[in-house]
Amino acid sequence: MSAINCKVSVLAQETVAPDIRRLTVSWEDQRPEFMPHAGQFYMLRCWAADEAPVLSRPISVHDASTEHDTITFLYQVKGQGTEKLAALKAGDTLTLTGPCGNGFDVAAAAKSGTGRVAVVGGGIGTAPLLLLCKELAAAGAKPELYVGFRDEPYGLEEFLPYCAAVSVATDSGAVGYHGLVTGILHPENFDLVLACGPNVMMKGVYKLCAEHNTPCIVSLERKMACGLGACLGCTCMTKVGPRTVCKDGPVFAAEEVFDLD
Ligand code: FES
Repeated sequence: MSAINCKVSVLAQETVAPDIRRLTVSWEDQRPEFMPHAGQFYMLRCWAADEAPVLSRPISVHDASTEHDTITFLYQVKGQGTEKLAALKAGDTLTLTGPCGNGFDVAAAAKSGTGRVAVVGGGIGTAPLLLLCKELAAAGAKPELYVGFRDEPYGLEEFLPYCAAVSVATDSGAVGYHGLVTGILHPENFDLVLACGPNVMMKGVYKLCAEHNTPCIVSLERKMACGLGACLGCTCMTKVGPRTVCKDGPVFAAEEVFDLD
Protein backbone atom coordinates (compact mmCIF):
# COMPACT_ATOMS: atom_id res chain seq x y z
CA MET A 1 0.00 0.00 0.00
CA SER A 2 1.41 3.43 -0.84
CA ALA A 3 1.41 6.26 1.67
CA ILE A 4 -1.04 9.11 1.19
CA ASN A 5 -1.18 12.69 2.44
CA CYS A 6 -4.09 13.68 4.58
CA LYS A 7 -4.96 16.90 6.35
CA VAL A 8 -6.26 16.12 9.84
CA SER A 9 -7.58 18.12 12.79
CA VAL A 10 -6.32 18.00 16.34
CA LEU A 11 -8.92 16.56 18.70
CA ALA A 12 -6.77 16.67 21.82
CA GLN A 13 -3.23 17.26 23.00
CA GLU A 14 -2.43 16.03 26.50
CA THR A 15 0.67 16.16 28.67
CA VAL A 16 1.34 12.62 29.88
CA ALA A 17 4.74 13.25 31.53
CA PRO A 18 7.01 16.35 31.59
CA ASP A 19 8.31 15.90 28.02
CA ILE A 20 5.74 13.39 26.73
CA ARG A 21 2.60 14.37 24.81
CA ARG A 22 -0.40 12.43 23.55
CA LEU A 23 -1.81 13.89 20.32
CA THR A 24 -5.14 12.65 18.94
CA VAL A 25 -6.20 13.64 15.43
CA SER A 26 -9.28 13.00 13.34
CA TRP A 27 -10.34 13.55 9.75
CA GLU A 28 -13.69 14.03 8.08
CA ASP A 29 -13.50 12.13 4.80
CA GLN A 30 -12.59 8.66 6.00
CA ARG A 31 -10.38 6.68 3.67
CA PRO A 32 -9.89 3.10 4.86
CA GLU A 33 -6.43 2.91 3.23
CA PHE A 34 -5.33 5.70 5.57
CA MET A 35 -5.84 3.55 8.68
CA PRO A 36 -2.66 2.10 10.17
CA HIS A 37 -1.92 -1.19 11.82
CA ALA A 38 0.42 -1.82 14.73
CA GLY A 39 4.05 -0.81 14.19
CA GLN A 40 3.41 1.61 11.34
CA PHE A 41 4.13 5.34 11.52
CA TYR A 42 3.27 8.62 9.82
CA MET A 43 5.34 11.63 8.79
CA LEU A 44 3.82 14.60 10.66
CA ARG A 45 4.09 18.24 9.62
CA CYS A 46 2.32 21.34 10.95
CA TRP A 47 4.59 23.97 9.43
CA ALA A 48 5.01 25.36 5.89
CA ALA A 49 7.25 23.69 3.30
CA ASP A 50 9.72 26.60 3.45
CA GLU A 51 9.83 26.69 7.25
CA ALA A 52 12.33 24.91 9.48
CA PRO A 53 12.79 22.14 10.19
CA VAL A 54 13.10 20.93 6.60
CA LEU A 55 12.01 17.41 7.41
CA SER A 56 8.64 16.21 8.65
CA ARG A 57 8.73 14.17 11.86
CA PRO A 58 8.26 10.38 11.76
CA ILE A 59 6.06 9.34 14.70
CA SER A 60 4.77 5.86 15.37
CA VAL A 61 1.08 5.17 15.86
CA HIS A 62 0.12 4.74 19.50
CA ASP A 63 -3.53 3.97 18.93
CA ALA A 64 -6.13 4.11 16.16
CA SER A 65 -9.89 3.78 16.01
CA THR A 66 -11.81 3.01 12.82
CA GLU A 67 -14.99 3.55 14.80
CA HIS A 68 -14.14 7.16 15.64
CA ASP A 69 -11.76 7.89 12.73
CA THR A 70 -8.97 8.87 15.10
CA ILE A 71 -5.24 8.24 15.29
CA THR A 72 -3.26 8.87 18.46
CA PHE A 73 0.47 9.56 18.75
CA LEU A 74 2.49 9.40 21.96
CA TYR A 75 5.74 11.30 21.44
CA GLN A 76 8.67 12.88 23.19
CA VAL A 77 9.20 16.63 22.77
CA LYS A 78 12.78 16.78 21.60
CA GLY A 79 13.88 19.29 18.95
CA GLN A 80 12.24 21.84 16.69
CA GLY A 81 9.73 19.57 14.91
CA THR A 82 8.22 18.01 18.02
CA GLU A 83 8.19 21.41 19.76
CA LYS A 84 5.98 22.70 16.94
CA LEU A 85 3.76 19.63 17.21
CA ALA A 86 3.52 20.15 20.98
CA ALA A 87 2.20 23.69 20.42
CA LEU A 88 -0.84 22.37 18.50
CA LYS A 89 -4.22 22.85 20.14
CA ALA A 90 -7.65 21.30 19.57
CA GLY A 91 -8.99 22.47 16.19
CA ASP A 92 -5.56 23.13 14.63
CA THR A 93 -4.67 21.21 11.49
CA LEU A 94 -1.60 19.28 10.38
CA THR A 95 -0.60 16.98 7.54
CA LEU A 96 0.00 13.27 7.92
CA THR A 97 1.77 11.18 5.30
CA GLY A 98 1.29 7.48 5.72
CA PRO A 99 0.73 4.92 6.93
CA CYS A 100 4.47 4.17 6.49
CA GLY A 101 6.47 1.02 7.17
CA ASN A 102 5.66 -2.66 7.36
CA GLY A 103 4.35 -2.88 10.94
CA PHE A 104 4.09 -6.06 13.03
CA ASP A 105 2.67 -9.25 11.54
CA VAL A 106 0.05 -9.58 14.26
CA ALA A 107 -1.78 -12.54 12.70
CA ALA A 108 1.45 -14.59 12.58
CA ALA A 109 2.41 -13.49 16.10
CA ALA A 110 -0.96 -14.47 17.55
CA LYS A 111 -0.67 -17.92 15.95
CA SER A 112 2.86 -18.63 17.18
CA GLY A 113 2.88 -21.72 19.43
CA THR A 114 0.26 -21.42 22.11
CA GLY A 115 -0.09 -17.68 21.60
CA ARG A 116 2.03 -16.67 24.60
CA VAL A 117 3.59 -13.44 23.43
CA ALA A 118 5.80 -11.08 25.42
CA VAL A 119 5.75 -7.44 24.34
CA VAL A 120 8.78 -5.51 25.58
CA GLY A 121 9.22 -1.74 25.54
CA GLY A 122 11.73 0.81 26.73
CA GLY A 123 10.83 4.46 27.44
CA ILE A 124 9.10 6.17 24.53
CA GLY A 125 9.60 2.87 22.64
CA THR A 126 6.43 1.75 24.43
CA ALA A 127 4.43 4.13 22.19
CA PRO A 128 3.72 1.71 19.30
CA LEU A 129 3.03 -1.16 21.69
CA LEU A 130 -0.48 -0.12 22.73
CA LEU A 131 -1.98 -0.72 19.28
CA LEU A 132 0.13 -3.88 19.06
CA CYS A 133 -1.30 -5.26 22.33
CA LYS A 134 -4.80 -4.27 21.23
CA GLU A 135 -4.44 -6.06 17.88
CA LEU A 136 -2.85 -9.12 19.53
CA ALA A 137 -5.70 -9.35 22.03
CA ALA A 138 -8.24 -9.01 19.19
CA ALA A 139 -6.44 -11.84 17.34
CA GLY A 140 -6.79 -14.15 20.35
CA ALA A 141 -3.32 -13.84 21.93
CA LYS A 142 -2.75 -12.82 25.54
CA PRO A 143 0.21 -10.45 25.41
CA GLU A 144 2.25 -9.89 28.55
CA LEU A 145 3.86 -6.49 28.71
CA TYR A 146 7.37 -5.82 30.07
CA VAL A 147 8.49 -2.22 30.16
CA GLY A 148 11.61 -0.39 31.26
CA PHE A 149 11.78 3.30 32.14
CA ARG A 150 14.50 5.52 33.58
CA ASP A 151 12.22 6.72 36.35
CA GLU A 152 8.42 7.15 36.65
CA PRO A 153 6.58 5.13 33.95
CA TYR A 154 3.79 6.72 31.93
CA GLY A 155 0.78 5.60 29.91
CA LEU A 156 0.63 2.05 31.29
CA GLU A 157 -3.00 2.12 32.47
CA GLU A 158 -4.12 2.06 28.83
CA PHE A 159 -2.50 -1.33 28.33
CA LEU A 160 -4.33 -3.05 31.18
CA PRO A 161 -7.48 -4.10 29.23
CA TYR A 162 -5.41 -5.88 26.57
CA CYS A 163 -2.59 -7.53 28.52
CA ALA A 164 -2.55 -10.62 30.73
CA ALA A 165 0.13 -8.95 32.88
CA VAL A 166 2.13 -5.74 33.01
CA SER A 167 5.62 -5.79 34.59
CA VAL A 168 7.73 -2.70 35.14
CA ALA A 169 11.46 -2.15 35.63
CA THR A 170 13.01 1.26 36.33
CA ASP A 171 16.64 2.37 36.35
CA SER A 172 16.00 4.48 39.45
CA GLY A 173 13.98 1.86 41.30
CA ALA A 174 11.07 4.34 41.56
CA VAL A 175 8.57 1.69 40.42
CA GLY A 176 8.79 -2.08 40.04
CA TYR A 177 12.04 -3.96 39.56
CA HIS A 178 15.18 -1.88 40.16
CA GLY A 179 17.22 -2.47 37.01
CA LEU A 180 16.90 -3.28 33.32
CA VAL A 181 13.82 -4.82 31.74
CA THR A 182 15.95 -7.83 30.79
CA GLY A 183 16.11 -8.55 34.53
CA ILE A 184 12.40 -9.43 34.63
CA LEU A 185 11.90 -11.00 31.19
CA HIS A 186 11.90 -14.81 30.92
CA PRO A 187 11.77 -15.65 27.20
CA GLU A 188 11.58 -19.37 27.96
CA ASN A 189 7.97 -18.76 29.05
CA PHE A 190 6.96 -17.38 25.65
CA ASP A 191 6.51 -18.47 22.05
CA LEU A 192 7.55 -15.07 20.74
CA VAL A 193 8.99 -11.78 21.99
CA LEU A 194 8.23 -8.46 20.27
CA ALA A 195 10.31 -5.45 21.29
CA CYS A 196 10.62 -1.71 20.71
CA GLY A 197 12.95 0.69 22.49
CA PRO A 198 16.56 1.83 22.54
CA ASN A 199 18.90 -0.35 20.44
CA VAL A 200 20.90 -1.42 23.46
CA MET A 201 17.72 -2.68 25.15
CA MET A 202 16.49 -4.54 22.07
CA LYS A 203 19.90 -6.14 21.60
CA GLY A 204 19.83 -7.28 25.24
CA VAL A 205 16.34 -8.70 24.75
CA TYR A 206 17.47 -10.50 21.59
CA LYS A 207 20.48 -12.07 23.36
CA LEU A 208 18.24 -13.31 26.15
CA CYS A 209 15.78 -14.73 23.61
CA ALA A 210 18.58 -16.43 21.67
CA GLU A 211 19.72 -18.21 24.86
CA HIS A 212 16.26 -19.76 25.09
CA ASN A 213 15.59 -20.23 21.36
CA THR A 214 12.63 -17.87 21.55
CA PRO A 215 12.05 -15.93 18.32
CA CYS A 216 12.44 -12.18 18.72
CA ILE A 217 11.04 -9.41 16.51
CA VAL A 218 12.19 -5.81 16.92
CA SER A 219 11.03 -2.41 15.70
CA LEU A 220 13.97 -0.14 14.87
CA GLU A 221 14.17 3.62 15.10
CA ARG A 222 16.25 5.72 12.70
CA LYS A 223 16.46 9.37 11.60
CA MET A 224 14.24 9.64 8.53
CA ALA A 225 14.00 12.16 5.69
CA CYS A 226 11.33 10.91 3.28
CA GLY A 227 9.81 8.01 5.25
CA LEU A 228 8.89 6.38 1.94
CA GLY A 229 11.95 4.38 0.90
CA ALA A 230 13.06 7.00 -1.65
CA CYS A 231 16.11 8.76 -0.17
CA LEU A 232 17.83 5.67 1.31
CA GLY A 233 18.89 7.85 4.26
CA CYS A 234 17.62 5.32 6.80
CA THR A 235 19.30 2.28 5.23
CA CYS A 236 20.62 -0.28 7.69
CA MET A 237 22.74 -3.35 7.00
CA THR A 238 20.95 -6.61 7.64
CA LYS A 239 22.00 -10.26 7.25
CA VAL A 240 20.18 -10.25 3.91
CA GLY A 241 21.67 -6.99 2.60
CA PRO A 242 20.85 -3.30 2.96
CA ARG A 243 17.26 -2.48 3.93
CA THR A 244 15.44 0.80 4.50
CA VAL A 245 14.05 1.09 8.04
CA CYS A 246 11.16 3.27 6.85
CA LYS A 247 9.84 1.00 4.10
CA ASP A 248 11.32 -2.50 4.54
CA GLY A 249 11.02 -1.99 8.32
CA PRO A 250 10.81 -0.68 10.92
CA VAL A 251 9.93 -4.22 12.05
CA PHE A 252 12.58 -6.91 11.49
CA ALA A 253 13.48 -10.33 12.84
CA ALA A 254 16.08 -9.51 15.51
CA GLU A 255 18.64 -11.98 14.09
CA GLU A 256 18.56 -10.08 10.78
CA VAL A 257 19.68 -6.80 12.32
CA PHE A 258 21.62 -7.67 15.52
CA ASP A 259 24.73 -9.74 16.16
CA LEU A 260 25.04 -11.87 19.24
CA ASP A 261 28.53 -10.62 20.21
FE1 FES B 1 14.09 8.00 3.01
FE2 FES B 1 13.96 5.85 4.61
S1 FES B 1 13.80 7.90 5.17
S2 FES B 1 14.45 5.92 2.52
